[in-house]
Amino acid sequence: MTPAIMTRQMDEAAGTAPAGAEPLALYVHWPFCLAKCPYCDFNSHVREVIPETRFRAALLAELEWEAARLGSRPLRSIFFGGGTPSLMSPETVGALIARARALFAAAPDLEITLEANPTSIEAGRFQGFRDAGVNRISVGIQSLNDADLRRLGRQHSAPQAIAALELGRKLFPRISFDLIYARPGQAEAAWRAELAQALDLAADHLSLYQLTIEPGTVYEGLHRRGEIVLPDEETAARLYEVTVSEAARYGLLPYEVSNYAKPGSESRHNLAYWRYGDYAGIGPGAHGRLSLAGGLIATRRHRAPEIWAERVERQGHGSGQDTVVTVAERAQEMLLMGLRLSEGVSAARFAARTGMSLAEALDPVILAAAIEEGYLVQEGDRLRATPEGRMRLDALLGALLR
Ligand SMILES: C[S@@+](CC[C@H](N)C(=O)[O-])C[C@H]1O[C@@H](n2cnc3c(N)ncnc32)[C@H](O)[C@@H]1O
Ligand code: SF4
Repeated sequence: MTPAIMTRQMDEAAGTAPAGAEPLALYVHWPFCLAKCPYCDFNSHVREVIPETRFRAALLAELEWEAARLGSRPLRSIFFGGGTPSLMSPETVGALIARARALFAAAPDLEITLEANPTSIEAGRFQGFRDAGVNRISVGIQSLNDADLRRLGRQHSAPQAIAALELGRKLFPRISFDLIYARPGQAEAAWRAELAQALDLAADHLSLYQLTIEPGTVYEGLHRRGEIVLPDEETAARLYEVTVSEAARYGLLPYEVSNYAKPGSESRHNLAYWRYGDYAGIGPGAHGRLSLAGGLIATRRHRAPEIWAERVERQGHGSGQDTVVTVAERAQEMLLMGLRLSEGVSAARFAARTGMSLAEALDPVILAAAIEEGYLVQEGDRLRATPEGRMRLDALLGALLR
């Protein structure tokens, strides 16, 4: 089969093909970090010595186990997330990529992303990651000023961040970086200046997140005691508008609430989540959604790294029990993910993935009112949320779903 025919068949599979042919996105979770950032509630842990050999063996074993039940599906993307996957050795990353390529039918343009932190230790491994097959990196910069980096508990400085980006741009065909804005005390003028600098440094993709206070984090305590104060809702909305309009001047469009790209440079891996495609998640705390003979299955690995590793060593995988995603849950999940995208949800794909039509899933009176109020738009095959609607997705869906 020529690559062109293969790609077209995979595109068709993404739309309407039977469940078994659904292409796959593979997520690999590396749960370790050099330090815990005070705002972060990701499944990340600090260890005096990272047990790399053990975790590499366990990740490889869990990949084999997952592949045995999935069969040789078309593989479109691999994403090493964390935690801090740039703390993995390039050999470990290379071994996982090689195994995934052998177990699945890798797309000719397989996207392989690795999340990297910009400390000098990690930047020193960039060449190794490139040699291992990584073709896209996503660098966690968070801020371009040293005072805020310290307040965010980061282990790098602004000059180190810029050096890592410059090196990354030389080595990788595709590069993105993350910033967190709407930080405590951040005024519009300061964010505009920082954003302008970021846009000058950016290639064709950026993730720009508004700071959220997550339960159980150090920031939550500081926030509760009034020791940090976030911009009020109006300021935060204004900062979002500034972000969208400034990014657009550089050709970076918000294809998802917090993700900006030049058309064609969107993260294929993240699009698979938002378009409600199949994804396998391996490593502690990783989630998956897999079309198997019994329907759409939700998988979830144990969160605690060492308990997960013990389970893999004992039974080949670190899961508790997989659960079947019901039709109603599929409809809710697909809308919650898809309406984050500026392209919205395709009605045909919605029916193929959930087994129910959009008309069956949504309350017609509320839908008409949401369109009338300017929160949703229905055009041909697509249902989209407007920027105003995207800010209120949870409330909208709560009312819309029957
Ligand atoms: C898995 S995390 C981090 C990747 C990498 N460990 C790092 O910190 O650079 C992905 C991104 O989520 C964002 N993030 C994490 N916690 C956040 C929060 N509380 N509010 C907003 N963004 C957050 C950060 O921009 C971060 O880079
Ligand atoms: S933000 Fe990144 S580096 Fe910081 S604790 Fe979370 S995962 Fe680790």
